[in-house]
Amino acid sequence: MKINGSPANPEHLRADTRLLDYLRDELGLRGTKEACGRGECGACTVLIDGRPVLSCITLAVRVDGAVETIEGVTPESAELRRQFAAHGAFQCGFCTPGQIVRGVALLREGLPADDTALRIAISGNVCRCTGYSGIVAALRAAEKNIGKPVAGDGS
Ligand code: FES
Ligand code: FES
Repeated sequence: MKINGSPANPEHLRADTRLLDYLRDELGLRGTKEACGRGECGACTVLIDGRPVLSCITLAVRVDGAVETIEGVTPESAELRRQFAAHGAFQCGFCTPGQIVRGVALLREGLPADDTALRIAISGNVCRCTGYSGIVAALRAAEKNIGKPVAGDGS
């Protein structure tokens, strides 16, 4: 297993240790959140080999691949964070790491052209605060801007 590009060895863990707990409690990667804890809300979303996975229902010892958490999903996440802020795509922010990680996966494969399909694609990530219009707008804006230089970054 690799986590954010670094080798990780969870073999000392109990067999029932969740990936979420390994990330947060042992590795200190607390950006990945727990809300429902039963695979229903998407707050705990990470990527394994580029695919979104719910870390609250994934056993750490069963993972064999490259894990990316909110701390490691770059460079797309930087642009997406900017666009979430610009479009008011969060309020409390608790769901946001999962939304960003899911969004990065979608941006890498190419967003669905149709907004209804995009809403379905993000429907596994529940937000109790906002509507989803801001999130969709942020994803669309990020798609346009990724790869372009950011004003003020010297590039
Ligand atoms: S905390 Fe994992 S899906 Fe809700
Ligand atoms: S911003 Fe509060 S749950 Fe989504």
